[in-house]
Amino acid sequence: MVKTVLVIGATSAMAKETCKHFAKEKARFFLVARDANKLGSVKLDLLTRGAESVTTCALDLADFSEYRSLVSMALKELGRIDITLIAHGVLPDQKQAQKEFKIAEESIRINFLSVIALCEILAEYYENQQAGCLAVISSVAGDRGRASNYIYGAAKGGLTRYLQGLWQRLAPSHVNVVIIKPGFVESPMTQHLQGGGPLWATADTAGRAIYKAIIKGKPVAYIPAFWKGIMWGVIHTPHAIFKRVRF
Ligand SMILES: NC(=O)c1ccc[n+]([C@@H]2O[C@H](COP(=O)([O-])OP(=O)(O)OC[C@H]3O[C@@H](n4cnc5c(N)ncnc54)[C@H](OP(=O)(O)O)[C@@H]3O)[C@@H](O)[C@H]2O)c1
Repeated sequence: MVKTVLVIGATSAMAKETCKHFAKEKARFFLVARDANKLGSVKLDLLTRGAESVTTCALDLADFSEYRSLVSMALKELGRIDITLIAHGVLPDQKQAQKEFKIAEESIRINFLSVIALCEILAEYYENQQAGCLAVISSVAGDRGRASNYIYGAAKGGLTRYLQGLWQRLAPSHVNVVIIKPGFVESPMTQHLQGGGPLWATADTAGRAIYKAIIKGKPVAYIPAFWKGIMWGVIHTPHAIFKRVRF
């Protein structure tokens, strides 16, 4: 059966790479992002790669009031939603966010609150459908607060906790909630940080791993998988040592 895929934040590097795998399976897409030009390019690319149909919707996701009609539009277009991937996000400059609350607030609003607002609408839909997959990109940054990025990490940590609860709520309805936790991935978001090295993955590698996690319905997917071990170490580092290290 042809899969129907709703992608929020569809112009994100990782979302685009994930979608390429669904396009090969001739999926039907409803793509949402704020930049209509970028959306047009993603649409063309997915159609070239085999997608059966691609509908786009340009929306600034800071406007929560549009969410219910957005999901209705996606449903009208797709008929049903098999898979949702939520990928939008912002990475604030930690030092600036410490000084200007407005920046911290935007991070919490986009990385945390907007995703909750969307997921609650989608959860209601999925409960009625009694099937489907809701995959959301959180981050390893949410696993333990660190001085270098705790404002971003707080939003992603809150998001991870929220998704854990949603996973349990939707399990009896046969709906898979997939919590995706990437480590360092090369993308426009991290362009200013990229130093290369073994801890960095390409968006292509991340997209393939996200696709596999969605297909398998994994509750939690570290991207790449070796981050599970790294974060186990980070989470279990004793406080006495943790306060002396900076990373
Ligand atoms: N890259 C990493 O190392 C890394 C690690 C862990 C988690 N993540 C998470 O992975 C997800 C995807 O990020 P990425 O690495 O693929 O970076 P990216 O290519 O920069 O994607 C971020 C996306 O979010 C969209 N966005 C931000 N604010 C928005 C708004 N108000 N309305 C609509 N769209 C908005 C951006 O749209 P525009 O193109 O219009 O700006 C962009 O498409 C994010 O949730 C990020 O937090 C990334």
